[in-house]
Order: sequence, then C-alpha cells, then structure tokens
Amino acid sequence: MFSAQTEAKFKHLASIYPQKRSALIPMLLAAQKEQGYIKPETIEYVGKYLDLNPSEVDSIMSFYTLLHRRPMGKYHIMVCTNLACLLRGSDEIEACVTRKLGIGMGQVTPDGLFSVIEFECLGSCTTAPAIQINGEFYENLDVRKTEDILDELQKRG
Ligand code: FES
Repeated sequence: MFSAQTEAKFKHLASIYPQKRSALIPMLLAAQKEQGYIKPETIEYVGKYLDLNPSEVDSIMSFYTLLHRRPMGKYHIMVCTNLACLLRGSDEIEACVTRKLGIGMGQVTPDGLFSVIEFECLGSCTTAPAIQINGEFYENLDVRKTEDILDELQKRG
C-alpha cells in the first residue's frame, strides 16, 4: 500500500513513543505526503497499525485541517482569515485568490493545479496578511503581490 520508505517511517514512528497511538498524526502526514491525501483505506491501515479503531482515527483527523480527505491542488493555498490578517485586509486577499483561480474556498481548480482553504491563524500575525502555499509563507500581502504570486505559480505549472 505504501512505498518501502514510508513503511520504514511508519515502523520507526510506531516505535519511538511510549504509547503507539502518539504516532498517529505523524503517520497520517507521512501517508498524505506519499499519496496526496488520506484515503479511507489509509485510515483502516493506520488504525490497525496502531491498534486504533478506524472511527477513532477518523474523529482525530477531523481536528486537523492539514490532513485532507480528498486530493488537493499541486499548489495548496491556505489563506489566513483570523483577526490580525482580517484587520490588515485578508478579505481582499481571499477575494483575489478565489476570483483569479475561479474557485471557492475548499475547492480545487479543474486542472488540479490549485486548491484553496481558509485557515485560522498561520502563526505569522506580525506579518499579516499572510498565506501559506505548500508550507511556504507569503507575508505582508496586498492584492497586487498576491496576483503576482499566483501568476508565477501558474507559469511554473
Ligand atoms: S491572524 Fe493571520 S497569521 Fe495570525
């Protein structure tokens, strides 16, 4: 189901915590890194691995917006809409992203290149408004900068 490398990582993760279940989130992140999202069979597989009921895995997953239940875009954009960003114009950034990509929050572009979600604080409040794309921060944004970032990623394909 997973590459030898990911299986080795699972084995390692399941061995380093006093309680095996503590490896759940790192294992799900490793699975997602390989497969792009968390498939239902992954929930079963990881649950068995850690002696957890799939419904426990499923309910724990529901707390983590970084874990996806369906494929996201090649460029996954997280737009912070929490207070500091909101006060510094995140609504304009959000409108810019959705207008330029032609999708709503939580959606993926038809070509699979972009997906976008709202996020509650990226931990970069002093450089608001901020977004994160595939883990990389883009800060002190305005509409023009945001358009340039999206254009650049579109060019890269
Ligand atoms: S409020 Fe946006 S990064 Fe904290």
